[in-house]
Amino acid sequence: MIKYVGVDDLNVDLFESQYVVKNGMSYNSYVIYDEKIAVMDTVEFAYANEWLENIKKVLNKKVPDYLVLHHMEPDHSGAVQAFLKKYPTTTVVGNAKTFVMLKQFYPQLVLANKKEVKDGDKISLGKNDSLTFVFAPMVHWPEVMMSVDNGILFSADAFGKFGALKFEDNWDDEARRYYHGIIGKYGVQVNQLIKKLTPFNIRAILPLHGPIIKETLAHVIDLYTKWSTYQPEDNGVCIFYASIYGNTRKAAMRLYDQLQMKNSEIIDLARFDLSEAVSKAFYYKKIVLACPTYNGDLFPVMKTFLNALAERNYQGRTIALIENGSWAPIANKKMKEYIDVYFKNCDIITPTITMKGAITSDTVQQLNLLVGALKK
Ligand code: FEO
Repeated sequence: MIKYVGVDDLNVDLFESQYVVKNGMSYNSYVIYDEKIAVMDTVEFAYANEWLENIKKVLNKKVPDYLVLHHMEPDHSGAVQAFLKKYPTTTVVGNAKTFVMLKQFYPQLVLANKKEVKDGDKISLGKNDSLTFVFAPMVHWPEVMMSVDNGILFSADAFGKFGALKFEDNWDDEARRYYHGIIGKYGVQVNQLIKKLTPFNIRAILPLHGPIIKETLAHVIDLYTKWSTYQPEDNGVCIFYASIYGNTRKAAMRLYDQLQMKNSEIIDLARFDLSEAVSKAFYYKKIVLACPTYNGDLFPVMKTFLNALAERNYQGRTIALIENGSWAPIANKKMKEYIDVYFKNCDIITPTITMKGAITSDTVQQLNLLVGALKK
């Protein structure tokens, strides 16, 4: 029997101090109740009492035999001290790296009982439940491991999403933003994990954030396969622009209007959530970057955006460039440098467009050519 004992965090403003989570966040935790009892992960420190109350309700006055720590990031390990204060004899289960990090984050912690597991180890909980440990380094930290119990995968951060469980928002959108924001850099490791899990015949996924995945399992695995191999989900176009006085914006809008494609979007980088912009850049096959020159460099929001993509191994896309600069335009050169140095396997399509202020008849002509190139 598996019972949910996690919590919803409706107070968090920025998850990891950077991601806007208007619907909060869930920190999931479960109790597996067999002849032996295992608590799967803890929660963020501020929710320790609520979580311990949830555990108490399902324990029937028993003491848990195991506390399994799949991931040491404090949104999941934050209540470990509170737990061990209440249940000091419970055996803490982790791997060699888990216990190193446990000491780093909680130097005062005294462990009465611990069990160090290796990749593939099993712990039987009784007649019905048995945990098999599957190491998943760098999904999202090096110590991350998962466990499988009768085809049910406790997946740590993987397959999670932003948003508290009490809200029913769009799984794809908030899981995509979460994936590209938090795990996206580690596509290779995520893809290896998907392959490693194949023999387990997974029938449900219980991530540390977001809802249980069961009915939509095939769809979710399909999306994770695409995301982890950096494939676009849509052949359309997303235009990302920055504009100081509106001229670059006018060019970007003209391009967007002339494209007349259902699968196209236009985003003002100065007024759009960065993590959402990043996830849109991964979603589409083709992107347009339109940017003014500023202090002999890129306008700051474009630089931040390109940095965020580079950190996440952006690759395999078709990119068009538009620059604006009154006396020494250099934005296209700078954007091309980013693409050449930090992005992999991206094609820059022609024409690359230079504006020196307002749109001219030459700009219009060039934009028309770009429309044709983007529609190919
Ligand atoms: Fe939800 Fe990597 O912590």
